[in-house]
Amino acid sequence: MDLFTASQAKKIPEDAKKEIEGLVKDLNYHNYRYYVLDAPEISDEEYDRRYRRLKELEEKYGYVLPDSPTRRVGAPPLEKFEKVRHTLPMLSLENAFSYEEVAEFDRRVKRLLKTDEDIEYTVEPKYDGLAIELTYVNGILEKASTRGDGYVGEDVTQNVKTIKALPLGIGGAKKIKIPSLMEIRGEVYMNIDEFERLNSEREAKGEPKFANPRNAAAGSVRQLDPSITAARSLYLTCYGTGAVEGTEFQSQWELIKWLEAARFPIPVVIKLSKGIEGALEVIKEIEQKSKTEFSFEADGAVVKVNDFRLRELLGEKTKEPRWAIAYKYPAHQGITVVKDIVASVGRTGVITPIAMLSPVRIGGVTVSRSTLHNWDEIDRKDIRIGDTVVVERAGEVIPHVIEVMKDKRTGHEKRFPIPAHCPACGSEVMREEGEVAVRCVRLDCPAQVAERIRHFASRGAMDIEGLGEKNVELLYSNGLVRHFEDIYRLKTEDLLKLPRFARKSAQNLINAIEASKRTTLSRFLFALGIPHVGEFAAKLISGRFEALEDLYNVRPDRISGIKQLGEKIANSVSRFFFDRDNLNTLDALKSLGVGIGNPDYEEAAGKKTRPGKPLEGLTFVVTGTLPEPRKDIEEKIEEAGGRVASAVSGSTSYLVVGEEPGSKLEKARGLGVNTISYGGLLALLKRPSA
Ligand code: IVH
Repeated sequence: MDLFTASQAKKIPEDAKKEIEGLVKDLNYHNYRYYVLDAPEISDEEYDRRYRRLKELEEKYGYVLPDSPTRRVGAPPLEKFEKVRHTLPMLSLENAFSYEEVAEFDRRVKRLLKTDEDIEYTVEPKYDGLAIELTYVNGILEKASTRGDGYVGEDVTQNVKTIKALPLGIGGAKKIKIPSLMEIRGEVYMNIDEFERLNSEREAKGEPKFANPRNAAAGSVRQLDPSITAARSLYLTCYGTGAVEGTEFQSQWELIKWLEAARFPIPVVIKLSKGIEGALEVIKEIEQKSKTEFSFEADGAVVKVNDFRLRELLGEKTKEPRWAIAYKYPAHQGITVVKDIVASVGRTGVITPIAMLSPVRIGGVTVSRSTLHNWDEIDRKDIRIGDTVVVERAGEVIPHVIEVMKDKRTGHEKRFPIPAHCPACGSEVMREEGEVAVRCVRLDCPAQVAERIRHFASRGAMDIEGLGEKNVELLYSNGLVRHFEDIYRLKTEDLLKLPRFARKSAQNLINAIEASKRTTLSRFLFALGIPHVGEFAAKLISGRFEALEDLYNVRPDRISGIKQLGEKIANSVSRFFFDRDNLNTLDALKSLGVGIGNPDYEEAAGKKTRPGKPLEGLTFVVTGTLPEPRKDIEEKIEEAGGRVASAVSGSTSYLVVGEEPGSKLEKARGLGVNTISYGGLLALLKRPSA
């Protein structure tokens, strides 16, 4: 769509032009209320209605303003990123690892400025994301670029435009001065709960997981296809400038106030303090908040000299300015030894390496294993058995090896090759062209079967309470459950023969199995564990196919015809429903009483709509001391449609972790249950409902 010039715009009826301009202003304002202030004034439906009206008018008259919200999406994939030279280099920060080092920084600043007077500092969280530069020319976003090597970055404009908190034009209700050139610097980041959601989706699809929210954010921005970036929910915070023409800022505080008035997202905490003592207090405050209420990962706090004149005097070294320092929070990292590397097989057959570590305490938790995500990572980081490594447990994220301390090597370290055979069944493994994942493709591989049954019974799938990892293992090894159908043939007497079951627990499991027979097509499809079909894909398919039988012998094009589903999923679904053995299994399940309704289809057909609640379908367990009474938190969860349970099990969706968590945390880690902080929970509560 072309941007019409003023003369061409004349052809448009004046009232249509006014309406378009009014809608752009209005939508940008509501977008800001929603994504930056987190305080919407209108409903999502109302927003969508106005958005559709704008789109319709724009298409009719070909008049699209440069800051129209419709410009956020729809850019075609790129071949490669263009290089961008930064007007001023994007510097990095010097790190401090103790309060003493921060005090030393203050002494140095005073020495260089030849003063004894207290210096004014600002303190902000250090966002663990991807540094970005946004170039606005006469108030309109022209370019977004990555930091790159500090001098030359990459043009990621189309991707960054999809970030809703980013203003496409410098605006604001109040009259603010719009500079002719304004390069704004900040950080693109991903919230912890979005990171966890994305990773579980990737896991379900058999894709490699991201190691931490920073990698996930960087991977999402450095995507050649902007539609992929648009599907990830990314945020932005702004804290600095590059080149500025047409106005001048005197201090960090003044800049931040301007950014705020111009509707840019600014750091959640920024405080001004005269003297380093006060700055240290703010550092402590930010550290506390990063554990309890931030929805994103902060790996430290940044102390900056407030006055830009003083910054000028202090100048910079090659890589870092002399006027700022990043205090990095401790207890996220530990040093330990890789005792062994083992291969583990998941339900979809993906074989992942796991490092077995000498136990090390990091931030109050004992860490003894760390997933290495995939085999490329072992190669890239050159991790060997016997290596001394730095392990990081950042926020609530699973621990990972960040670095090998190569100077500690003795020469006796052993490399661990990609296994040629599945560690569980011994069959040859496969690696698809262009994929990082290594898979065991034998369907009856015992590790996969047990994992598949556990997945089948899990909460988002058939939801059989009591059929978690341990019980599945037990039933499988005793030969009672080898296929999905066997679950529905179980009798109380069978269970009573096993060591873990008494009459009550056996009866409970049988009841849960019975209850699971009433299910929905989307749950059932997800439960089957068809490669690449996660909860989301299952829901989309259920919206199109009324009954399970309609999928029998389905051709791939009927699946790839569904918006948002690609060829990979289509081929996988089709392959599954063409397999005679699979269809026999489905028929057997039906004849054992599994009944499949399909509310998604009815909904898609417009028969009824269901108002969702943000936590619907999720089960929570709470542990440790939290900023508000346990009862109040549980009430909030239930009000939002969630369920509260007292013990962690395979069906727990999230463990909410407070200070000094108990054994529940260890258990959750063992079961691979997601953990979130109090802040993470608040973020989930605010999430728009499904
Ligand atoms: S100021 C010259 N402020 O940390 C100073 N940086 O380790 C430029 N970062 O490259 C950076 N939060 O990507 C600044 N509040 C904050 C920050 C921040 C995160 C990142 C930034 C920088 C890196 C340095």
